[in-house]
Amino acid sequence: MHSPASSTLYFLCSALLFHAFLTTAIDPLHAKCSISKNYTSNDAFGDNLPQMMSLLATKAAPIGFALGSVGHGDGRVNGLALCRGDVRSSACTSCILSAGARIRDLCPRNKEAVVWYDECMVRYSDAAFFGDADYDQSFPLSNPRNTFNTRNVSDPKALDGKVALLLERLKNKAYISPLMFAKQELEIGDQSRNLYGLAQCTKDISGGDCKKCLEAAINKLRRCCRGQRGARVVGGSCNMRYELYAFLDDA
Ligand SMILES: *[C@@H]1O[C@H](CO)[C@@H](O)[C@H](O)[C@H]1NC(C)=O
Ligand SMILES: *[C@@H]1O[C@H](CO)[C@@H](O)[C@H](O)[C@H]1NC(C)=O
Repeated sequence: MHSPASSTLYFLCSALLFHAFLTTAIDPLHAKCSISKNYTSNDAFGDNLPQMMSLLATKAAPIGFALGSVGHGDGRVNGLALCRGDVRSSACTSCILSAGARIRDLCPRNKEAVVWYDECMVRYSDAAFFGDADYDQSFPLSNPRNTFNTRNVSDPKALDGKVALLLERLKNKAYISPLMFAKQELEIGDQSRNLYGLAQCTKDISGGDCKKCLEAAINKLRRCCRGQRGARVVGGSCNMRYELYAFLDDA
């Protein structure tokens, strides 16, 4: 039999665990809010934003990408959603929905924002940005597993060379792919371990702009993360990632 005290303790522990679950489930990798233009509680923009997010979540399910606009004039919201190339449509939909809800908390009343999750990216603006490659909003993120991974690489210099080769191959594959998505593995000849990578562009930009965007991402990775075992760059029009472990759902 449970005493009332142990029931209370059990309840508290469950509540804490549930809270931890929710927090890890909805915290993004990164968010960028533009504070130069805001809407007020009376603006149609604020009503149209959640509608636009639902529209994106529905439209993106079949191909992992969607553009959508809701409203007219000052109230018009333009949005873009991109799911990681390997995620299933149900996971894509739920990622976009939680990103859409979270971005309103993170960037309250801002007329422009981007939020990045592991499995999706969501971007909106009052400006018509479809088709314009965004080279400005891009952020390097190093993998927190760098500090936890105790299996060392015997030759870090050689690894840098392999990383550069992998990123180059990913870029060359992604920008000519109809899905604008590429994944690639590369043996690093170090205890028969592999390097895994992905590159992806939003499908509203041209192949040429995708190539430029990925070249910029490679330069950013070179500057931020040389010698690291895993890193990524997330951007408004493209993203790139490499790791020493398989991180894709179907890899
Ligand atoms: C928009 O709102 C942010 C707070 O979210 C504030 O810091 C910023 O100054 C506002 N911008 C303008 C142009 O009013
Ligand atoms: C990894 O390398 C660090 C220093 O570079 C060393 O302190 C550590 O012991 C190594 N870990 C293993 C598992 O070899």
